[in-house]
Order: sequence, then C-alpha cells, then structure tokens
Amino acid sequence: MEFFENRGHKIVPSSSLVPENDSSVLFVTAGMHPLVPYLMGENHPLGKRIANIQKCVRTGDIDDVGDSTHNTFFEMLGNWSFGDYFKNESIQWSWEFLTDKKWLGINPEKIKVTVFKGDNDAPRDDESIEVWKKCFQKSGISFEIYDKEKNNNENARIFPLPKEDNWWGPAGETGPCGPDTEIFIDLGRSINFEKCPKGDDCKPGCNCGRYVEIWNNVFMEYNKTSDRKYVPLKQKNVDTGMGMERTLATLNGFNNVYETDLLAPIIAEVEKLSGKKCSESKNIKKSMRIIADHIRTSVFMISDGVVPSNLDRGYILRRLLRRAIRHGNLLKMPNGFLLPLAETVVDIYKEFYPELLENKDRILEEIKKEEEKFERTLEKGLKELEKMVKIKEEKENKFPYAEKTRPDFGSKSDDYINYISGKDAFNLYQTYGFPPELIREELAKYAMSYHKGEFDTELKKHQQISRTAAAGKFKGGLADASEETKKLHTAAHLLLESLRRILGDHIYQKGSNITADRLRFDFSHPEKLTDEEKQKVEDLVNEQIQKNLPVNFEEMKLEDAKKIGAMGVFDAKYGEQVKVYSIGNFSKEICAGPHINHTGELGIFKIQKEKSSSAGVRRIKAVLE
Ligand code: ALA
Repeated sequence: MEFFENRGHKIVPSSSLVPENDSSVLFVTAGMHPLVPYLMGENHPLGKRIANIQKCVRTGDIDDVGDSTHNTFFEMLGNWSFGDYFKNESIQWSWEFLTDKKWLGINPEKIKVTVFKGDNDAPRDDESIEVWKKCFQKSGISFEIYDKEKNNNENARIFPLPKEDNWWGPAGETGPCGPDTEIFIDLGRSINFEKCPKGDDCKPGCNCGRYVEIWNNVFMEYNKTSDRKYVPLKQKNVDTGMGMERTLATLNGFNNVYETDLLAPIIAEVEKLSGKKCSESKNIKKSMRIIADHIRTSVFMISDGVVPSNLDRGYILRRLLRRAIRHGNLLKMPNGFLLPLAETVVDIYKEFYPELLENKDRILEEIKKEEEKFERTLEKGLKELEKMVKIKEEKENKFPYAEKTRPDFGSKSDDYINYISGKDAFNLYQTYGFPPELIREELAKYAMSYHKGEFDTELKKHQQISRTAAAGKFKGGLADASEETKKLHTAAHLLLESLRRILGDHIYQKGSNITADRLRFDFSHPEKLTDEEKQKVEDLVNEQIQKNLPVNFEEMKLEDAKKIGAMGVFDAKYGEQVKVYSIGNFSKEICAGPHINHTGELGIFKIQKEKSSSAGVRRIKAVLE
C-alpha cells in the first residue's frame, strides 16, 4: 500500500465479503467488485488512483482446494486507475514493486508474463509487449516472445495467449472489458515435470503447479456492446489484482500457501487435535489443507453476516463447514474440532480485521450449531452411501449407464467407471445434508461418481419450490399489497433518500419489512441517530409528502439504472431489465413496486423507534398517521 501511496494512490479499506447494493454475485470475488461504478465512469470521491486490500471469496475452484495455491478465501491487493495512467505506468510499477530489492525483491529471472495475442475482436496487445520489453531490458534479463512454431516455451518470457487466458470482463453480456497481462512465478522445470499432462507444451497458465499466477493487470479499454462489438472506451481504466497468499509464499520460498503465516498456524492446530502430521500421506495433507482453507473462509463469511442455510450465500457457507467436518472426521478429530480452529483464524487476522474479534462469539456460535447439526446426519448418510455403492457394485457390476449419458464433470469424469443414480445422490443431499462436492469426493474413493444430469433435474424441481416460497416472502419486502402497505412502501423510498441526504452517501438499504400497520427499515450506518437527526429525516420525508410528488416508473437495463444513480439493486443480474421508480425529482430506486400514485396520499410520517439491527446496521420502525 505504501508503494502505491507514494505514487499518488489513495488507500481504501476492504469492503465486506457480501456485496453491498449489488447482488449480481453472491460474494465479492475481486478487488474491483466494489469499485464497478467508478470503472463505469462515476467520480470516485478520493480521485483517480485507488489501492486496497480486499477480502475475496471464490468458490468456482472449490474442487482444486487442497492443491498448493487454490483457496476459497483470499486477500487481493489491487491498484486502480480510473481514466488516469494506463499500461506504461501500470506494468512498470508492477515490475518495480516485484523485483526492486527495496520492495519485494523477487528474482526477475523467475518471472514470466502473458499478454493478449489478438483476435477478430481486438488486436494483439503490442503496447503491453513493448512495456514488458523495456522492463526486462532495464533489468538486463533475456526475453523471447513465445512462438508455437519455434517451440520456445523454455526460453520465452512473454507469452501472447488468446481471450480465454488474457481477457477480463465484461461482468455481464455488455460493459467495460479489455486485455490483461498476467504475471507468473516459474517454480522451475523440476516441479511436476514428470506429471504435467502438457509435457513440452507446458507454459504460464498451465495448471500443473509449475507456474503460479501472482498478479493480473487488466486494461479496460473496450466496451462490449449488445451487438457483440468491442468499441474503444473514452475512459481507459486499470484494474489489478495480486494474490496475497501466493505472493507471500513466493517471498518465503514455499511452493504452497499453507506454509505461510496465514495458514500454517491452522494446519498446526489440526495436527495437534488429530495427532497426525500433514506430511504423513497425500490424503492427510489434502484433508488438512481443505479443513484449513474452509474454516478460514467460514470465519470471514460469518463475520460479514452470513449464516449457514440452504440458500445462496448461506448454502455456500454450509457446504464449506460440512466438507471441513467430513475431513475432520476422516482424520478422526474430536467432535467440535472446528471451534479451536476458528479461534486460531481469529487470532491470525484480528489485528488487520478487528471485526473478527468483535464478532467472535457469534462466529463460534454459528459454527457450533452447524457442527452439531451435521454430526447427527453425517454418519447415517455415509452408511446410506455405502449401501448405494454396494448395490451398484453387486447388481450392475460397472457401466450402468451408456457411454453417452456419462455424468459430465469435465476431464475428471474419465476416472470413474461406475455411477450411482442422480436420485440416490439427491437423497444424500436432501435427507442427510451432503453437499455435492462431498458426495463426489466420497464416491471417488470407490472409483465412482453420480449421474449429474439426473441430480440437477431433481435439484431444479426442489429449487423451484423454494424459489416460489422465497418470492412470496420477497416482493420488495411487502407482506401483502393492501393500500396501507403500498403507502408505507412509498414512504420507505422517501425515507432512504432522506437518510442519505441528512446522514450521507454511505447509507444503503439493508432490508425492509412492511405490514399494513408499520414499516421496518434496515440501513447501513455506524452509530445511533441523534434526536436531531431523526427529526431532520422525519421532516424531510414529510416535506416530500406535502409537495404531493408524482410516483412513476420506467423500465430499463440494470446498467442504465445504475448510470442514472438509481438505488437498491436486489436480485437483478447484469443486462437484466429492471423497473426504476422515481418520486418527483427526489428519489430514484430500482424496485418491483407496487406504489401509490402521489405522495400526498401518505398522511404524516413518524419515526417510532431507531435501534441497532446488527453490526453497522440500524433499524427504523415508522408509521403513517
Ligand atoms: N479483476 C482482476 C482479477 O481479479 C484483476 O484478476
């Protein structure tokens, strides 16, 4: 942070793992996520250069956890230019920060980079190639550009690769995007050389473990339009992401992240509790790593307000905890073993993330509850699974499904020769609470898997039911649609805007619940409102009511809604059509309705209560008289 501060960047704190005011993804997956509005052209209050360390969760790689470098939680270090500096400064600073002895001092010979090789949509990123050449020249190290024909993988330092490797964004169908350049540490030919399936074709981006990606610099210079064209952007941005764990491992000379100070104390605690050593066997190592990774992610998630459940974020948390519990059970760890591990995580991070200490009791309580719940069904479920496996083995004796209906888990599916039905797998999921990856893992021990197509069909049937149930509850937080609730709903919009005008832009809606009698409204704010503040908010709402402002809505793309500054993005995805309700020129909110037609119908707005709802969230109870 100091390096970028010296170069004109303002440091901003990490946002919560739970995206605020944007639910196009369940968790913040990159440092750029909370900064999207500024990448889209909004002015950042702190200027055009920003840097941060952001807590991130990515569960797409969950099956890779246990290898040397993949984690479900990680910290991403990033620096941003919002239409300010571009490729030249960005790449040179990355090089300086990584290799200068005053900063990280990594041996430049170990660094290899990839750039965008060009296609019909956009040309090769020659500008980045030139800057890299300059950097390498300055440091006096040799560089060749990779050329498939020449088969020069070992000597090349700059690797032009296609879109699937070196392109970032847009987040949805349309929007800002561009080529990136990725920076890798080459651990050397000896690492996995025997095992790499690519053999001589192994190069940065290969998953065999030889090349560790530590930093990605994205150059957002195009806007992808709805007719799939890539149009150069007026405001060119830089978005970078550097993996904290991987960089630290590199600096420490480890080939995996679990030996760093960020994870080693958790592994040590697992060793203590299980009486086993991580180095004893491959399976023990993998189980210990999965436990360490998953408990760390769970602690951070719960701290940011997620609780285990069967839906969305809560379900991801549940899966992580349950998989950790199963691996603890494989290591014969005592019941309740996750609690001391959670305490270790809090200890490691408390200085940088004091919220962990503040939320410690709640974190331990949620983990304890989930452990107790799953321990009750785990054993029964495993017995059931064994039965299913036995029946298949006895009755069908391999290949129960025709080749073409083989379950599709990508290349890994080829390892399996026998399958239980998707219905059976769904029963394990539904009745015994087994997460899919846990079922996969257990079956893999018998060289088996389950029929994924069938499982998904069952899951969809089930989800439709729960989604309908959730939709009934949701409806913009309205319990019913009587005239009284409509009025209170409109009042809620006036309340949000008034809070923002009186208390500041940090205020976002965190939830609402409306009945015919009253309105309950949760919003982000760090402290109790003073009597004076409450009065001001109340007065501002009543002023708008007296003006008898018209209430109208317009349908538009989510992106456009954001552009005009509409508040409150709930379940919308990028590219989706949303309704924006406006109340005169006073408020604009993305909302499904319904509302009354004129504010004059509301009567007099009164705040009855204001109190804390959870950490950093306040709750107002209000009525219309
Ligand atoms: N947003 C880019 C990434 O996450 C930097 O890799």
